Amino acid sequence: MCSSQQTEHIGKPNNYFSTCLTGVILLSGATSGIGLETARVLALRGVNVVMPVRNLEAGEKIKESIAEKIPNAKLEVMELDVSSLESVRKFASQYCQKGLPLNILM
Ligand SMILES: NC(=O)c1ccc[n+]([C@@H]2O[C@H](COP(=O)([O-])OP(=O)(O)OC[C@H]3O[C@@H](n4cnc5c(N)ncnc54)[C@H](OP(=O)(O)O)[C@@H]3O)[C@@H](O)[C@H]2O)c1
Repeated sequence: MCSSQQTEHIGKPNNYFSTCLTGVILLSGATSGIGLETARVLALRGVNVVMPVRNLEAGEKIKESIAEKIPNAKLEVMELDVSSLESVRKFASQYCQKGLPLNILM
């Protein structure tokens, strides 16, 4: 994040964080709970979000439900089960092949 400015958002306009959140954010746990809400808010702010999920079907449904309300959402779903090293390696390899930057891990 904007390293030395991490507390400077206090009292600033709502879009202040958007100027910090550039590039690609890798957001785990986006199919429910705090991860889902984080994905929704990041999409609302026009951030590029890659959502690694263990259930691709559930992930695509979440992506669609967010896109219904936020048509310009930049969301991508990829398969990842963090309890499996094999899955982690496969995910890393596929992510690298995309040639995307990785700016923030959440
Ligand atoms: N510091 C704090 O104050 C605070 C407060 C709240 C939460 N947290 C932390 O934030 C995280 C999320 O909490 P939460 O309550 O929203 O929900 P949670 O039940 O802890 O996490 C649910 C999400 O994690 C995914 N997930 C679980 N196991 C996975 C695996 N092996 N591979 C890939 N994804 C997996 C689930 O995917 P599926 O849909 O496939 O099940 C779902 O999207 C937790 O680590 C929690 O401890 C911290």
